[in-house]
Amino acid sequence: MKKRALITGISGQDGSYLAEHLLDNNYEVHGVVRRHSVAENQDIRIKELNGRINTFYGDLLDVPSLMRIFNEVKPDEIYNLGAMSHVRISFDMPSFTIQTNALGVLNMLEMYRTIVPEAKFYQASSSEMFGNSVDEDGSQRLTTPMRPVSPYGCAKLLGFNLVRHYREAYNLHACNGILFNHESPRRGSNFVTNKVVKTAVEIKLGMRDKLELGNLDSYRDWGHSKDYVKAMHMIVNYERPDEWIVSTGETHSVRDLCKYVFDKLGMDYKDYIVQNPIYMRPEELNYLKGDSTRTREVLGWEPEYTFETLMDDMIDSWLTKLGT
Ligand code: NAP
Ligand code: GDD
Repeated sequence: MKKRALITGISGQDGSYLAEHLLDNNYEVHGVVRRHSVAENQDIRIKELNGRINTFYGDLLDVPSLMRIFNEVKPDEIYNLGAMSHVRISFDMPSFTIQTNALGVLNMLEMYRTIVPEAKFYQASSSEMFGNSVDEDGSQRLTTPMRPVSPYGCAKLLGFNLVRHYREAYNLHACNGILFNHESPRRGSNFVTNKVVKTAVEIKLGMRDKLELGNLDSYRDWGHSKDYVKAMHMIVNYERPDEWIVSTGETHSVRDLCKYVFDKLGMDYKDYIVQNPIYMRPEELNYLKGDSTRTREVLGWEPEYTFETLMDDMIDSWLTKLGT
């Protein structure tokens, strides 16, 4: 019999790639989608999977909807990817962020514990939980103190701890993946990578003449979402539930990112970038570089994309979309 997976956030970047990965591995895939006033926006990233996956209307904050879905699907594996995932916006919407990203996890864990306690559970935890803690060698790892610097990071840390607590208290196969930034052509265009790539291509095509950004001096460890969803599946299927770091181990500044993308398109980024304070954060996370040695050694996970091939994939995608 096919294994049944339930994915919250299936309409998002990671949810859509994870659904494809699980279908390739012969899973029956079910997902939770939220109602949008523009129906077309609900399934923009998953419409090609129409007929191959089952979707249910629901919300992490709507317990009756979760109860109905859990009872109907009876999943073997649960991937909780649903979240308000934009760090800058979490400062504007702290209450909704904390409800969705922390209480939403609690709601999911309660459904899991009471309806399908034999199932396995994956929680989308984040490197944003580290805040500005960095070990002496310049990396973050499981032992690095977690001191988040945004409502998003604070909420994710509560979710992370709830998953640990439920695992220990109720003997559940509940796992945390601490994923560093990961991007793709399906990334929302208000995250920095896709914003830079999209705008640079538009400038190249004469559609715009400047790119407004916030802080150019922060560093991120950027990987490809396609590689990272494979790690999620490996984490859930490891013999025992645990915490795992997923990262490339390389870091680049936002300025490096701009330089690479504009160079690739034959332009000098310095001619086009304007700093606008509206994109700055009340508190910034300055530097991320993850040590994923244990994940590679124990799970055998290895990313296929490099920073450069990730950016090339995104550039090619925008060039195609914008019609060249
Ligand atoms: P994304 O593209 O923003 O997708 C988030 C998904 O969550 C969307 O499908 C969204 O639905 C859904 N969602 C939002 N609020 C919800 C709610 N109240 N109830 C149910 N669903 C809700 O994010 P992503 O990049 O795929 O990230 C997936 C997960 O990994 C998130 O939990 C994120 O915080 C975490 N994470 C991401 C990264 C990264 O770099 N991408 C790194 C570490 C952790 P709508 O489209 O309807 O809003
Ligand atoms: N979004 C955005 N827009 N970021 C900008 C801009 C801008 O115009 N200008 C500079 N930046 C800087 C931000 O200040 C930050 O330092 C960096 O670019 C990356 O920002 P985002 O792409 O928004 O990602 P993030 O690191 O805040 O959060 C992402 O990664 C987390 C994992 O560390 C999200 O995917 C989170 O959901 C995820 O948990």
